[in-house]
Amino acid sequence: MKILVTGGAGFIGSHTVVELQNAGYDVVVVDNLCNSSEKSLERVAAITGKRVPFYKADILDRDAMNKIFDKEAVDAVIHFAGLKAVGESTQKPWEYYENNVAGTLTLVDVMRKHGVKNIIFSSSSTVYGDPQTIPITEDCPKGVCTNPYGWTKSMLEQILMDIQKADNEWNVILLRYFNPIGAHPSGTIGENPNGIPNNLMPYITQVAVGKLKELGVFGDDYDTPDGTGVRDYIHVVDLAIGHVKALQKIEEKAGLKIYNLGTGVGYSVLDIVKNFEEATGVKIPYVIKPRRAGDIAMNYSDATKAKEELGWVAQYGIKEMCADSWRWQKNNPNGYEE
Ligand code: NAD
Ligand code: WQD
Repeated sequence: MKILVTGGAGFIGSHTVVELQNAGYDVVVVDNLCNSSEKSLERVAAITGKRVPFYKADILDRDAMNKIFDKEAVDAVIHFAGLKAVGESTQKPWEYYENNVAGTLTLVDVMRKHGVKNIIFSSSSTVYGDPQTIPITEDCPKGVCTNPYGWTKSMLEQILMDIQKADNEWNVILLRYFNPIGAHPSGTIGENPNGIPNNLMPYITQVAVGKLKELGVFGDDYDTPDGTGVRDYIHVVDLAIGHVKALQKIEEKAGLKIYNLGTGVGYSVLDIVKNFEEATGVKIPYVIKPRRAGDIAMNYSDATKAKEELGWVAQYGIKEMCADSWRWQKNNPNGYEE
């Protein structure tokens, strides 16, 4: 099978390309490199020993996408391409809706006109809003998102569900990721945020490497065991393997399916600091700061459905997530820049 991976040069995309190639799939990547570097794909090729055919193109560019689908006999699309910075989305909502929603509409239209009706979509646990029940099962009602980024995911889920409902030749798998961290154990590919990181693990690794002075812990008065926010962190390699399993589901002509991809275990901010220090031997100084707007106290998955229906269970524990994030940062203090 030939798989077109949009956003394949990015953090989760590059790791997924590795696992797809390792599993024997033919892979083609489309990315406009707005938040990534083509070097990630050179590193992927060094890991797998296989070239990664790459098209630098924007999913909004219908002509470019048509040409790619004319040329490549694509069987399924794994769709990562999108803007993902929560804070930025509140400043630039139009850009987020345009890129993520209009981009996906264009992609899906080009797909159907080429008879390609299999898609795996990167959704997010953010669609649950402040969840009504924890651990969160896929049946938990979707909630009110606190930012435009989250709404793009929630809306795109609805759009893809409606398209599948109207035409059951479509196979649509919505994967709701919890908090991806870690990096490939080789330390050659990883997360490469622009500027000061918004997310916890890249912030911690930049403190560890000496680029940032100390971690700010956003709130210690939540209703959680130690007062800091609890999340379900998942190793990016496990997440990548989840996509390979989802492809096997697509091959069974699954129709519409929704899966959480998480470990089912919650860790607080201070748990992460402690585990990072233990896994790496590097001390992380921190100060308690006020709560960050839009944050919730607690969010972790019930990962049973993916286990039962996809045969997928996260293999990596929190120490490996920390050690692998650190190896990538230490070996590449400036990400993919020389
Ligand atoms: P990333 O920014 O590293 O990867 C996204 C890639 O898409 C980048 O390489 C970027 O250049 C590309 N891209 C963006 N807009 C494009 C466009 N219009 N045309 C072509 N390429 C475009 O982010 P990531 O962390 O790898 O996330 C991948 C997907 O998973 C995103 O859709 C994101 O919203 C989703 N997701 C991420 C997380 C997370 O915490 N990292 C959690 C849940 C869901
Ligand atoms: C984790 C915890 C913070 C930074 C975001 C998106 C979500 C999904 C994953 C895409 C929280 C605390 C953080 C810092 C801190 N992405 N924190 N100091 O907010 O759970 O999820 O990324 O879909 O949609 O919202 O992840 O890593 O930003 O925060 O104390 O400098 O760490 O308050 O409790 P979050 P995060």
